[in-house]
Amino acid sequence: MSAQLMNAIRVYHYGGPEVLKLERIPLPRPEAGEVLIRVHAAGVLPYDWKYRQGLFKDSRPASFPYIPGSSFSGTVEKVGPDVHEFCKGQEVFGRSQYGTYAEFTVAPAAGLMLKPAALSFDESVTIPGSAVTAWLTLFRDGELKKGEKVLIHGAAGGFGMIAVQLAKWKGAFVIGTCSAKNVDFLYSLGVDTVIDYTSKSFDKIVQDVDLVVDTIGGETLDRSWSVVKMGGKLLSMVEQPSVEKVQRFGLKPVKPYSLPHLEEIETISKIISQMIIGKQVKVCILKKFPLEKVQEAHELSQRGHGRGRIILNV
Ligand SMILES: NC(=O)c1ccc[n+]([C@@H]2O[C@H](COP(=O)([O-])OP(=O)(O)OC[C@H]3O[C@@H](n4cnc5c(N)ncnc54)[C@H](OP(=O)(O)O)[C@@H]3O)[C@@H](O)[C@H]2O)c1
Repeated sequence: MSAQLMNAIRVYHYGGPEVLKLERIPLPRPEAGEVLIRVHAAGVLPYDWKYRQGLFKDSRPASFPYIPGSSFSGTVEKVGPDVHEFCKGQEVFGRSQYGTYAEFTVAPAAGLMLKPAALSFDESVTIPGSAVTAWLTLFRDGELKKGEKVLIHGAAGGFGMIAVQLAKWKGAFVIGTCSAKNVDFLYSLGVDTVIDYTSKSFDKIVQDVDLVVDTIGGETLDRSWSVVKMGGKLLSMVEQPSVEKVQRFGLKPVKPYSLPHLEEIETISKIISQMIIGKQVKVCILKKFPLEKVQEAHELSQRGHGRGRIILNV
Protein backbone atom coordinates (compact mmCIF):
# COMPACT_ATOMS: atom_id res chain seq x y z
CA MET A 1 0.00 0.00 0.00
CA SER A 2 1.40 3.46 -0.85
CA ALA A 3 2.31 5.75 2.09
CA GLN A 4 -0.15 8.47 3.08
CA LEU A 5 1.17 11.90 2.08
CA MET A 6 0.94 15.31 3.74
CA ASN A 7 1.84 18.90 2.94
CA ALA A 8 4.95 20.08 4.76
CA ILE A 9 7.50 22.88 4.52
CA ARG A 10 11.06 21.64 4.13
CA VAL A 11 14.43 23.38 4.06
CA TYR A 12 17.38 21.86 2.16
CA HIS A 13 20.01 24.50 2.93
CA TYR A 14 20.46 27.70 4.92
CA GLY A 15 19.24 30.88 3.26
CA GLY A 16 16.46 33.46 2.91
CA PRO A 17 12.68 32.80 2.99
CA GLU A 18 12.95 31.30 -0.54
CA VAL A 19 14.50 28.12 0.91
CA LEU A 20 11.15 27.28 2.56
CA LYS A 21 9.63 24.74 0.13
CA LEU A 22 6.13 23.30 0.20
CA GLU A 23 6.32 19.55 -0.51
CA ARG A 24 4.25 16.37 -0.39
CA ILE A 25 5.99 13.90 1.90
CA PRO A 26 5.00 10.73 3.80
CA LEU A 27 3.35 11.18 7.18
CA PRO A 28 5.66 10.57 10.14
CA ARG A 29 5.07 7.37 12.09
CA PRO A 30 4.76 7.67 15.89
CA GLU A 31 7.35 5.49 17.60
CA ALA A 32 7.08 4.13 21.16
CA GLY A 33 6.16 6.95 23.53
CA GLU A 34 5.16 9.29 20.69
CA VAL A 35 1.91 10.72 19.38
CA LEU A 36 0.97 11.66 15.81
CA ILE A 37 -0.78 15.02 15.77
CA ARG A 38 -2.83 16.72 13.07
CA VAL A 39 -1.52 20.28 13.30
CA HIS A 40 -4.07 23.13 13.47
CA ALA A 41 -1.71 25.97 14.36
CA ALA A 42 2.08 26.31 14.31
CA GLY A 43 3.83 29.26 15.93
CA VAL A 44 6.22 31.30 13.78
CA LEU A 45 8.99 32.37 16.15
CA PRO A 46 12.04 34.55 15.45
CA TYR A 47 14.09 31.45 16.30
CA ASP A 48 12.66 29.73 13.18
CA TRP A 49 14.06 32.27 10.72
CA LYS A 50 17.31 32.69 12.63
CA TYR A 51 17.79 28.93 12.43
CA ARG A 52 16.86 28.96 8.72
CA GLN A 53 19.53 31.61 8.14
CA GLY A 54 22.13 29.38 9.79
CA LEU A 55 22.72 31.63 12.80
CA PHE A 56 22.97 28.57 15.06
CA LYS A 57 24.85 26.36 12.63
CA ASP A 58 27.83 25.94 14.97
CA SER A 59 25.92 25.19 18.17
CA ARG A 60 22.86 23.42 16.68
CA PRO A 61 23.62 22.40 13.08
CA ALA A 62 20.58 21.46 10.95
CA SER A 63 20.09 17.99 9.58
CA PHE A 64 18.81 18.69 6.05
CA PRO A 65 16.14 18.52 4.85
CA TYR A 66 14.32 19.63 7.97
CA ILE A 67 10.80 20.86 8.76
CA PRO A 68 10.88 24.20 10.64
CA GLY A 69 8.82 25.09 13.68
CA SER A 70 8.63 23.79 17.23
CA SER A 71 5.33 24.86 18.83
CA PHE A 72 1.99 23.43 17.75
CA SER A 73 -1.62 22.93 18.70
CA GLY A 74 -3.72 20.23 17.10
CA THR A 75 -5.62 16.98 17.43
CA VAL A 76 -4.31 13.53 18.28
CA GLU A 77 -4.47 11.38 15.14
CA LYS A 78 -2.76 8.23 16.35
CA VAL A 79 -0.71 7.08 19.34
CA GLY A 80 2.50 5.07 19.20
CA PRO A 81 3.10 1.79 21.03
CA ASP A 82 2.99 2.09 24.86
CA VAL A 83 1.07 5.37 24.83
CA HIS A 84 -2.05 5.03 26.97
CA GLU A 85 -2.63 8.54 28.26
CA PHE A 86 -3.82 9.98 24.91
CA CYS A 87 -6.32 8.83 22.30
CA LYS A 88 -7.43 9.87 18.83
CA GLY A 89 -9.44 13.10 18.67
CA GLN A 90 -8.08 14.78 21.81
CA GLU A 91 -7.08 18.42 21.41
CA VAL A 92 -3.51 19.08 22.53
CA PHE A 93 -0.63 21.53 22.36
CA GLY A 94 3.10 21.33 22.95
CA ARG A 95 6.53 21.28 21.32
CA SER A 96 7.94 18.96 18.69
CA GLN A 97 11.49 18.42 17.49
CA TYR A 98 10.18 16.81 14.31
CA GLY A 99 9.01 20.22 12.97
CA THR A 100 5.54 21.76 13.03
CA TYR A 101 5.20 23.58 9.67
CA ALA A 102 3.31 20.55 8.35
CA GLU A 103 -0.12 18.95 8.32
CA PHE A 104 1.08 16.36 10.84
CA THR A 105 3.84 16.22 13.40
CA VAL A 106 5.00 13.74 16.03
CA ALA A 107 5.76 14.64 19.63
CA PRO A 108 6.66 12.73 22.78
CA ALA A 109 3.56 11.92 24.86
CA ALA A 110 5.53 13.14 27.88
CA GLY A 111 5.22 16.91 27.66
CA LEU A 112 2.08 16.93 25.52
CA MET A 113 -0.65 19.07 27.06
CA LEU A 114 -4.41 18.58 26.79
CA LYS A 115 -5.96 21.76 25.42
CA PRO A 116 -8.88 22.99 27.54
CA ALA A 117 -12.02 23.41 25.38
CA ALA A 118 -12.26 27.10 26.37
CA LEU A 119 -8.83 27.79 24.87
CA SER A 120 -8.59 28.19 21.08
CA PHE A 121 -5.93 26.46 18.98
CA ASP A 122 -4.44 29.88 18.19
CA GLU A 123 -4.25 30.88 21.85
CA SER A 124 -2.77 27.59 22.99
CA VAL A 125 0.05 27.60 20.42
CA THR A 126 1.49 30.73 22.09
CA ILE A 127 1.95 28.88 25.39
CA PRO A 128 4.81 26.45 24.65
CA GLY A 129 6.67 28.88 22.37
CA SER A 130 6.50 32.16 24.25
CA ALA A 131 4.47 32.18 27.45
CA VAL A 132 6.38 29.43 29.27
CA THR A 133 9.67 31.13 28.35
CA ALA A 134 8.33 34.47 29.58
CA TRP A 135 7.26 32.89 32.88
CA LEU A 136 10.63 31.24 33.47
CA THR A 137 12.52 34.39 32.51
CA LEU A 138 10.56 36.63 34.86
CA PHE A 139 9.96 34.40 37.85
CA ARG A 140 12.64 31.69 37.87
CA ASP A 141 15.65 33.53 36.39
CA GLY A 142 14.58 37.12 37.13
CA GLU A 143 13.09 36.28 40.56
CA LEU A 144 10.55 39.08 40.01
CA LYS A 145 8.41 39.77 43.08
CA LYS A 146 5.30 41.75 43.91
CA GLY A 147 6.01 45.46 44.19
CA GLU A 148 9.24 45.31 42.17
CA LYS A 149 9.92 47.38 39.07
CA VAL A 150 10.60 45.63 35.75
CA LEU A 151 11.58 47.10 32.38
CA ILE A 152 10.68 44.92 29.38
CA HIS A 153 12.10 45.82 25.96
CA GLY A 154 10.14 44.78 22.87
CA ALA A 155 7.05 44.66 25.05
CA ALA A 156 4.57 44.44 22.15
CA GLY A 157 6.18 41.40 20.52
CA GLY A 158 5.09 37.77 20.76
CA PHE A 159 7.25 37.27 23.85
CA GLY A 160 6.88 40.76 25.34
CA MET A 161 3.07 40.98 25.24
CA ILE A 162 2.83 37.89 27.46
CA ALA A 163 5.75 38.92 29.68
CA VAL A 164 4.23 42.30 30.55
CA GLN A 165 0.92 40.69 31.52
CA LEU A 166 2.56 38.01 33.65
CA ALA A 167 4.59 40.70 35.42
CA LYS A 168 1.43 42.72 36.09
CA TRP A 169 -0.31 39.60 37.41
CA LYS A 170 2.59 39.16 39.83
CA GLY A 171 1.98 42.69 41.12
CA ALA A 172 5.10 44.31 39.64
CA PHE A 173 5.34 47.86 38.33
CA VAL A 174 5.81 47.30 34.60
CA ILE A 175 7.60 49.57 32.14
CA GLY A 176 7.54 48.55 28.47
CA THR A 177 9.28 49.88 25.37
CA CYS A 178 7.78 49.81 21.86
CA SER A 179 7.28 52.09 18.85
CA ALA A 180 4.52 54.72 18.66
CA LYS A 181 1.97 52.45 16.98
CA ASN A 182 2.05 50.01 19.91
CA VAL A 183 1.83 52.48 22.80
CA ASP A 184 -1.97 52.26 23.25
CA PHE A 185 -1.84 48.49 22.81
CA LEU A 186 0.59 48.17 25.73
CA TYR A 187 -1.50 50.44 27.96
CA SER A 188 -4.52 48.26 27.11
CA LEU A 189 -2.55 45.25 28.46
CA GLY A 190 -2.08 47.07 31.78
CA VAL A 191 1.53 48.26 31.38
CA ASP A 192 2.14 51.10 33.89
CA THR A 193 4.60 53.17 31.85
CA VAL A 194 5.05 52.82 28.09
CA ILE A 195 8.09 54.38 26.44
CA ASP A 196 8.10 54.97 22.68
CA TYR A 197 11.71 54.17 21.81
CA THR A 198 11.46 56.11 18.54
CA SER A 199 10.99 59.45 20.34
CA LYS A 200 12.38 58.97 23.86
CA SER A 201 15.48 57.45 25.45
CA PHE A 202 14.35 55.00 28.10
CA ASP A 203 17.63 55.43 30.01
CA LYS A 204 16.85 59.13 30.57
CA ILE A 205 13.42 58.28 32.04
CA VAL A 206 13.84 55.01 33.91
CA GLN A 207 16.03 54.30 36.93
CA ASP A 208 16.43 51.86 39.81
CA VAL A 209 14.59 48.96 38.24
CA ASP A 210 14.85 45.55 39.89
CA LEU A 211 14.89 43.71 36.59
CA VAL A 212 15.44 44.38 32.89
CA VAL A 213 14.23 41.83 30.33
CA ASP A 214 15.81 42.65 26.98
CA THR A 215 14.57 41.14 23.70
CA ILE A 216 16.42 43.59 21.42
CA GLY A 217 20.14 43.45 22.21
CA GLY A 218 22.80 45.80 20.76
CA GLU A 219 22.64 49.38 21.93
CA THR A 220 19.31 48.78 23.72
CA LEU A 221 21.09 46.25 25.91
CA ASP A 222 24.12 48.56 26.29
CA ARG A 223 21.96 51.43 27.54
CA SER A 224 20.08 49.16 29.96
CA TRP A 225 22.86 48.56 32.47
CA SER A 226 22.63 51.99 34.06
CA VAL A 227 18.88 51.74 34.78
CA VAL A 228 19.15 48.66 37.02
CA LYS A 229 19.58 49.25 40.73
CA MET A 230 22.47 47.68 42.67
CA GLY A 231 21.71 44.02 43.31
CA GLY A 232 19.13 43.95 40.50
CA LYS A 233 19.18 41.71 37.44
CA LEU A 234 19.50 42.10 33.69
CA LEU A 235 18.39 39.28 31.40
CA SER A 236 18.64 39.23 27.63
CA MET A 237 16.75 36.87 25.31
CA VAL A 238 19.16 37.60 22.46
CA GLU A 239 22.69 37.97 23.87
CA GLN A 240 24.59 36.67 26.85
CA PRO A 241 25.07 39.80 29.00
CA SER A 242 28.69 40.63 29.81
CA VAL A 243 29.93 39.19 33.12
CA GLU A 244 32.30 42.14 33.47
CA LYS A 245 29.37 44.59 33.31
CA VAL A 246 27.33 42.57 35.79
CA GLN A 247 30.20 43.05 38.27
CA ARG A 248 30.89 46.69 37.34
CA PHE A 249 27.23 47.71 37.86
CA GLY A 250 26.88 45.61 41.01
CA LEU A 251 24.14 43.36 39.60
CA LYS A 252 23.23 39.82 40.54
CA PRO A 253 24.73 37.21 38.17
CA VAL A 254 22.21 35.23 36.09
CA LYS A 255 22.65 31.76 34.63
CA PRO A 256 21.94 31.32 30.89
CA TYR A 257 18.34 30.32 30.13
CA SER A 258 17.69 26.58 30.40
CA LEU A 259 14.61 24.41 29.91
CA PRO A 260 13.25 22.96 33.16
CA HIS A 261 11.83 19.47 33.80
CA LEU A 262 8.69 18.49 31.90
CA GLU A 263 6.60 18.55 35.10
CA GLU A 264 7.49 22.19 35.65
CA ILE A 265 6.62 23.09 32.04
CA GLU A 266 3.31 21.26 32.48
CA THR A 267 2.49 23.12 35.68
CA ILE A 268 3.35 26.50 34.17
CA SER A 269 1.39 25.72 30.99
CA LYS A 270 -1.70 24.84 33.04
CA ILE A 271 -1.50 28.05 35.06
CA ILE A 272 -1.11 30.16 31.92
CA SER A 273 -3.97 28.31 30.17
CA GLN A 274 -6.25 29.23 33.07
CA MET A 275 -5.04 32.84 32.99
CA ILE A 276 -5.90 33.09 29.28
CA ILE A 277 -9.31 31.48 29.83
CA GLY A 278 -9.93 33.83 32.77
CA LYS A 279 -8.89 36.82 30.61
CA GLN A 280 -6.03 37.74 32.96
CA VAL A 281 -3.74 37.26 29.98
CA LYS A 282 -4.80 38.38 26.49
CA VAL A 283 -3.23 36.77 23.45
CA CYS A 284 -2.76 38.91 20.37
CA ILE A 285 -2.26 37.24 17.01
CA LEU A 286 -0.53 39.58 14.56
CA LYS A 287 -1.39 37.60 11.45
CA LYS A 288 -2.33 34.08 10.38
CA PHE A 289 -0.91 32.52 7.23
CA PRO A 290 -1.75 29.29 5.44
CA LEU A 291 1.15 26.84 5.01
CA GLU A 292 1.73 27.86 1.39
CA LYS A 293 2.34 31.51 2.47
CA VAL A 294 5.12 30.55 4.88
CA GLN A 295 7.67 32.72 3.08
CA GLU A 296 5.51 35.80 3.73
CA ALA A 297 5.14 34.77 7.38
CA HIS A 298 8.93 34.62 7.78
CA GLU A 299 9.41 37.94 5.98
CA LEU A 300 6.95 39.57 8.37
CA SER A 301 8.60 38.04 11.45
CA GLN A 302 12.05 39.08 10.23
CA ARG A 303 10.95 42.72 10.02
CA GLY A 304 10.76 42.56 13.85
CA HIS A 305 8.09 45.21 14.35
CA GLY A 306 4.99 43.20 15.02
CA ARG A 307 2.32 43.15 17.69
CA GLY A 308 1.81 39.67 19.10
CA ARG A 309 2.46 36.27 17.57
CA ILE A 310 2.46 35.13 13.94
CA ILE A 311 0.79 31.78 13.28
CA LEU A 312 0.54 29.26 10.46
CA ASN A 313 -2.93 27.75 10.29
CA VAL A 314 -2.43 24.38 8.75
N1 LIG B 1 9.31 34.07 21.62
C1 LIG B 1 10.06 33.47 22.51
O1 LIG B 1 9.61 32.65 23.25
C2 LIG B 1 11.54 33.75 22.58
C3 LIG B 1 12.34 32.90 23.30
C4 LIG B 1 13.70 33.18 23.39
C5 LIG B 1 14.23 34.26 22.72
N2 LIG B 1 13.42 35.08 22.02
C6 LIG B 1 14.01 36.20 21.29
O2 LIG B 1 13.44 37.41 21.72
C7 LIG B 1 13.33 38.31 20.62
C8 LIG B 1 11.91 38.80 20.54
O3 LIG B 1 11.05 37.70 20.29
P1 LIG B 1 9.53 37.94 19.93
O4 LIG B 1 8.96 36.61 19.66
O5 LIG B 1 8.87 38.80 20.95
O6 LIG B 1 9.69 38.79 18.55
P2 LIG B 1 8.62 39.65 17.75
O7 LIG B 1 7.26 39.06 17.96
O8 LIG B 1 9.13 39.80 16.37
O9 LIG B 1 8.59 41.08 18.46
C9 LIG B 1 9.67 41.95 18.42
C10 LIG B 1 9.21 43.27 19.04
O10 LIG B 1 10.34 44.10 19.23
C11 LIG B 1 9.92 45.45 19.14
N3 LIG B 1 11.09 46.29 18.86
C12 LIG B 1 11.86 46.34 17.75
N4 LIG B 1 12.88 47.20 17.93
C13 LIG B 1 12.77 47.68 19.21
C14 LIG B 1 13.53 48.58 20.02
N5 LIG B 1 14.63 49.19 19.56
N6 LIG B 1 13.10 48.81 21.30
C15 LIG B 1 12.01 48.22 21.79
N7 LIG B 1 11.22 47.36 21.08
C16 LIG B 1 11.62 47.10 19.81
C17 LIG B 1 8.87 45.45 18.07
O11 LIG B 1 7.96 46.45 18.45
P3 LIG B 1 7.68 47.74 17.53
O12 LIG B 1 6.93 47.21 16.33
O13 LIG B 1 6.85 48.59 18.39
O14 LIG B 1 9.01 48.28 17.12
C18 LIG B 1 8.23 44.04 18.18
O15 LIG B 1 6.98 44.11 18.83
C19 LIG B 1 13.78 37.54 19.38
O16 LIG B 1 15.10 37.88 19.07
C20 LIG B 1 13.70 36.09 19.80
O17 LIG B 1 14.59 35.27 19.11
C21 LIG B 1 12.09 34.86 21.94
